Amino acid sequence: MADVFSLALFEREGRTLMVRRKEDKPPFAGRWLLPGVIVKSEQSAEEALERHTVRELGVEIEEHVFVETLSLDDETTHRRYVANVFRVLRHRGDLRFRAEGDYADARWLSKEQLADAQAPASLRDWLRGERETAAPAGPVPLPAGGPTPDNRQAWNTIAKAYQERYQLPTDKLVYGPRCPDEEQLNLVGDVSGLHAIVLGCGGGQDCIVLAKQGAQVTGIDLSDEQITFGRRLAEREETQVTLLQGNIEELKGIDDESQDLALSLHALNYVERAERVFAEAYRVLRPESPFVFSVHHPFDACLEDGPPYGVVKGYWESERDWQWDFAEARASARMRSWYRPVGEWVSLLTEAGFRVERLLEPPPTEGPATPWDESYSIDKMRQVPANLIIRAVKP
Ligand SMILES: C[S@@+](CC[C@H](N)C(=O)[O-])C[C@H]1O[C@@H](n2cnc3c(N)ncnc32)[C@H](O)[C@@H]1O
Repeated sequence: MADVFSLALFEREGRTLMVRRKEDKPPFAGRWLLPGVIVKSEQSAEEALERHTVRELGVEIEEHVFVETLSLDDETTHRRYVANVFRVLRHRGDLRFRAEGDYADARWLSKEQLADAQAPASLRDWLRGERETAAPAGPVPLPAGGPTPDNRQAWNTIAKAYQERYQLPTDKLVYGPRCPDEEQLNLVGDVSGLHAIVLGCGGGQDCIVLAKQGAQVTGIDLSDEQITFGRRLAEREETQVTLLQGNIEELKGIDDESQDLALSLHALNYVERAERVFAEAYRVLRPESPFVFSVHHPFDACLEDGPPYGVVKGYWESERDWQWDFAEARASARMRSWYRPVGEWVSLLTEAGFRVERLLEPPPTEGPATPWDESYSIDKMRQVPANLIIRAVKP
């Protein structure tokens, strides 16, 4: 009977984690393979793999799914092996390579690099071609009911990795993944000479965009690390912006009726009491000034990220926790988001005194990729909107 391998498929931004087995570690000595182990008769395929990844890579597999059985021919031992491949959906710990273990090397390989890798042909061909699309590399939903995460701490932990991965532009506003841009939407308009406040400004990119167009901009963010990143970025871009650490539920130090525009792009889902943000935005805006914001669409947040997009959260259930893993930077954090039905966003705005002028649920742009795309499936976005965008005005 052929020996059976269990192989772990770790994926990140279109790349696959491959390991090269040591020259003195048959089978597949010196060859590139997915991390994996031969299953002994007393073990289950999953148990064997879980132990192996803890020992060799320092990670605990928390969720996996079987994806394929392959036959692998080893040219060095002239034997054939059966390999069950498990896709790792969630893991705990930072992937690290242990030089004293089975492997001589470990790398994230792109499809092009896989073509040249000395790997069993059937595995290489499957990885390069037939395998179904990888699970999104963005945050992974966690089961409800855990302890309340500290969002400020979480954003501080992932800020650097987030900025390195997503590389948001400083020359145009990004309303969300695969969203039409400001030129097409015309929600903010000409900002030259205006006072603008950006709520949940992250790494300051939106502030810099507005400042480059002649606005005087204040950005507020909960995360000290995001603010530090933003200040450095503004300096590098030779742009004047004021970036302050703070909770946007309370706009401390911002005078009543001092702003001509409030903007918030994909930040309000992280705020528990959105009604407080709306009250504060209303307070600091001058009459006839707009408040433009985008959020993760509440319908999208109810559905699984992969086909068949089953319901994982009730539409009116507000809380959802996420695990962000940036293996490349060894950063991971758990954070909480709050979702509201579309009607509730509108009610909260009108209760705060705003007039809702536009409410958009755009289908995805089909052109070149935009930041965060890897966290969303375009197939899913073609069926339900991923973004909700609202322009409200203080009368
Ligand atoms: C996805 S980012 C949005 C910024 C930018 N548009 C981007 O996409 O990077 C979310 C930001 O909201 C901030 N945030 C979360 N809760 C907040 C709160 N209560 N007050 C201020 N900022 C908050 C986080 O620190 C994070 O930087």
